[in-house]
Amino acid sequence: MRLKLKVWRQVSANAKGYLQEIDVPEVSPDSSFLEMLDEVNEQLMQAGQEPIAYDSDCREGICGTCGVVVNGIPHGPLPATTTCQLHMRHFKDGDVLVIEPWRSRAFRVIKDLVVDRSAFDRIIQAGGYITADTGSAPEANGLPVGKEAADRAFDSAACIGCGACVAACPNASAMLFVGAKIAHLAELPQGQPERYLRAIRMVEQMDKEGFGNCTNHGECEAACPKGIKMTNIYRMNADLARAFVGSTSLPAERG
Ligand code: SF4
Ligand code: FES
Repeated sequence: MRLKLKVWRQVSANAKGYLQEIDVPEVSPDSSFLEMLDEVNEQLMQAGQEPIAYDSDCREGICGTCGVVVNGIPHGPLPATTTCQLHMRHFKDGDVLVIEPWRSRAFRVIKDLVVDRSAFDRIIQAGGYITADTGSAPEANGLPVGKEAADRAFDSAACIGCGACVAACPNASAMLFVGAKIAHLAELPQGQPERYLRAIRMVEQMDKEGFGNCTNHGECEAACPKGIKMTNIYRMNADLARAFVGSTSLPAERG
């Protein structure tokens, strides 16, 4: 298939960006989106041009490193799919693809399609951990976790930190990501000692990083490649409210 790309090019964080038009004469429908970009980069380098900078690591939908906006949709048009797992058979011969980086004040563009997502790391550093004795592994049945709580914790833990929720939200809110991280640990006995302090610290850091607030658009949930639900945001808000009113002895029921 033949495609026309309009790719965001930006030499550095402070440079002015623009959309570069690139004709791609031959794309295999079996290639992944990133393999297509690899081919385009070969084409650009053969023509003596600078290749397009973009992030990737696992290329298996598990690391959260990749992620670009394709025709206005974070991770492209296929639901519940990361950019690296998107294949070219989902596009048509002759399509025009506008490829841009995540857009958000907190995710500064570093170069072309690469953004700085270290704000997420700082949010995790602020509270996304547990206090646990080090040493040998504890006895497996020492901390029983109910099946329903374990399933909910696992669903929240599926967040790969890609940032598509931020890119999709009109407010550039990071609440789906932060909510997932808080809800994951709030479901487990290991997460209880710092549970409410964690909610305060992570939300404070989220605000410091310049992310917006949630106004219930739901674009984050629609864009998330891992099916993270907005119930994680309600859960985060419930823990935050409890932290501020001091009723932190409530059990770890679903909020
Ligand atoms: S909540 Fe979904 S979209 Fe947001 S960072 Fe996690 S996996 Fe990515
Ligand atoms: S490269 Fe790891 S999720 Fe896409």
